Amino acid sequence: MKRILSNFLLALVLVCGLNYTAHPDKTNLRDLVLSFPGLPYLSPTAISASPDGKRLYIAGATANQVVVYDIAEREAIHRIDVPSSPSGLALSSDGQQLYVTCAAPKSKVCIISTASGKVSASFPAGHTAMAPILSPSGKLLYVCNRFNDAVEIFDLEKRKQMTSIQVDREPVAAVLSPDGKLLFVANHIHSGRSDTGVVAATVSVIDTEQRRLIKHIRLTNGSTLLRGLCVSPDGKYIGVTHVLARFHLPTTTVAHGWMNNSALSLIEVSDLTLRATVLLDEDDRGAANPWAAEWSADGRFICVTHAGTHEVSFIDAPALLAKITALPVRLEAPAKPNNDSNTAQVIGDIPNDLGFLAGLRTRFKLRARGPRCLALVGKHVFVGNYFSDSLSILDLAREGHSSATIQLESPLEINPVRKGEMYFNDATICYQGWQSCASCHSSDARVDGMNWDLLNDGMGNPKNVKSLLFSFQTPPVMSMGVRSDAASAIRAGIRHILFTEPREEIASAIDDYIKTLQPIPSPYLVHNRLSSSAQRGRSLFSSDTVGCLKCHTPPLFTDLKAHAVGTGKFDQKNDEFYTPTLRELWRTAPYLHDGSAGTLRDVVLTHNTEDRRGQTSHLKSDEVDDLVAYLLTL
Ligand code: HEC
Ligand code: HEC
Repeated sequence: MKRILSNFLLALVLVCGLNYTAHPDKTNLRDLVLSFPGLPYLSPTAISASPDGKRLYIAGATANQVVVYDIAEREAIHRIDVPSSPSGLALSSDGQQLYVTCAAPKSKVCIISTASGKVSASFPAGHTAMAPILSPSGKLLYVCNRFNDAVEIFDLEKRKQMTSIQVDREPVAAVLSPDGKLLFVANHIHSGRSDTGVVAATVSVIDTEQRRLIKHIRLTNGSTLLRGLCVSPDGKYIGVTHVLARFHLPTTTVAHGWMNNSALSLIEVSDLTLRATVLLDEDDRGAANPWAAEWSADGRFICVTHAGTHEVSFIDAPALLAKITALPVRLEAPAKPNNDSNTAQVIGDIPNDLGFLAGLRTRFKLRARGPRCLALVGKHVFVGNYFSDSLSILDLAREGHSSATIQLESPLEINPVRKGEMYFNDATICYQGWQSCASCHSSDARVDGMNWDLLNDGMGNPKNVKSLLFSFQTPPVMSMGVRSDAASAIRAGIRHILFTEPREEIASAIDDYIKTLQPIPSPYLVHNRLSSSAQRGRSLFSSDTVGCLKCHTPPLFTDLKAHAVGTGKFDQKNDEFYTPTLRELWRTAPYLHDGSAGTLRDVVLTHNTEDRRGQTSHLKSDEVDDLVAYLLTL
């Protein structure tokens, strides 16, 4: 009803000739904003401050709007519509042009003239563009195209792409060294198989002069779901926030980070190596889903938002660096499980020391939910709260001790789907705040690429995380079908993974959220169509000689049945697995129940030598390419 009313009001305003999106008169605009009680959720997802420190630009991911916020007046003064979800902002050094990545399968970069508050031009970018960064000269723009696994470089004078550089997997954040020579890119997920001893995502480094990738820096074993990047003002260190998965342990308890920890890794810029991985949790208090990170201009603080526990950490950066430097040897050994007496003796111990930040960090609890972006302006920290549609203002000088919350959008009655998404990302429903559903399924209910021994089908047989897209339509769920349907898996997840009694209000909201998930069009489609190779692959897939359709029946490409199709090193001889959906295969690697296939080529070739999943052993190499090309479009 509210939505209808607001649409009606919007239509009325447009008919009356008032330009809602670019109204120059602030007073009228405020009235207009107040007259829209049913505006869609805003969902702050990126913040950029004007060079004079007077304004903030806030990207509202679900409203397709950029909000202009006046710092002195403490209010939103203007809203600018953009064509699709604004995912990142970059402001020119004179504050005149705001570059907005508008994420979509065919993204756009919009250029907003801050003086007029209007989109003055736009140019195309790749699949799900985000994290735009301007070169120091202001002539180039670097953009992460998350689902192309690439960074595009644009010449802003010509508004043309100069080049695209392949990185690792799902680049979601970028930061430039102060001299502009190196671009660091955080890859959300690792790109290999997940049944090996070391599984960790990387930070890619691009040499901006030569415009080429020079290194993937692998983080500590278990590092996944990378989110935020920051650089120290002296350019010596890069900080990156991420989850640290204790994937090699059975999931018997969540306390002390025995499942997932929250971490900040520091990269040494001089030799492009990992310096240390520091835990952001404390012994009996997780700080889940670390997201945005900023290093203050005076070098004193690293600020990190915790999107799962609705907090901000203020870390004393010089003291942290001194404490790391004081430790003797660097050990390259993979991270070991925590125990209570794990005070770090050497640098390699730091990823297991829940007390390492004791005395070096203040945690500040927000009166809002889902802090996902932040900006430091003078003595203040501005935090954008995704689910509360609000801005928290904290005092940097007093480490967050005074705070105000500004509502950017009139609070809406939260609908069940949004509520479910909120709980899915909420670690405060977990015992001691260690993790949320998003700590393994990422914020959009897909995958983290890791294996987990969930103990619901035996022990010592870890399973690769499954995407929750179409879970409700493909019962039973879990690769061995141990849960009758998604609803029971959701309740079991709250009980056995978050270690709390599932409240029906929470569980049913998560049901509603999962039911509404929609597939994203594949980046491998060419103008929304299959390439000629993918068309040949479709014919093979459907042919009797290859026989994939026998089990992978469209539209969801599953017969909902279990089959004995061969087992892996963790399984019993007679184990059977339910045919998984093949939708969105392009983003759910690694494959098979045990994550033993890093690529689709591996699924078809290396892992199907006995032709138990379709007849593939007779296929020629280019036919396998065609089949894989088709699978990647689903
Ligand atoms: C520690 C990592 C982890 C966390 C946290 C986690 N899950 Fe999962 N989830 C998994 C793994 C691994 C699987 C696949 C297990 C299998 O195939 O047997 C899975 C599978 C599922 C499935 C079945 C998917 C299908 O279609 O077969 C559902 C539903 C699900 N999870 C919901 C949730 C919910 C809701 C939460 C939060 C309450 C949650 N999960 C938290 C690891 C996790
Ligand atoms: C007898 C039934 C059956 C046939 C025929 C079959 N599959 Fe499957 N497929 C399965 C099962 C069961 C799994 C899950 C196996 C596992 O997890 O180890 C699977 C897994 C897959 C996966 C991995 C999906 C993921 O998310 O991990 C892909 C890709 C796939 N099949 C493609 C194909 C193709 C291509 C063909 C034809 C060449 C084919 N399958 C034929 C039953 C079948």
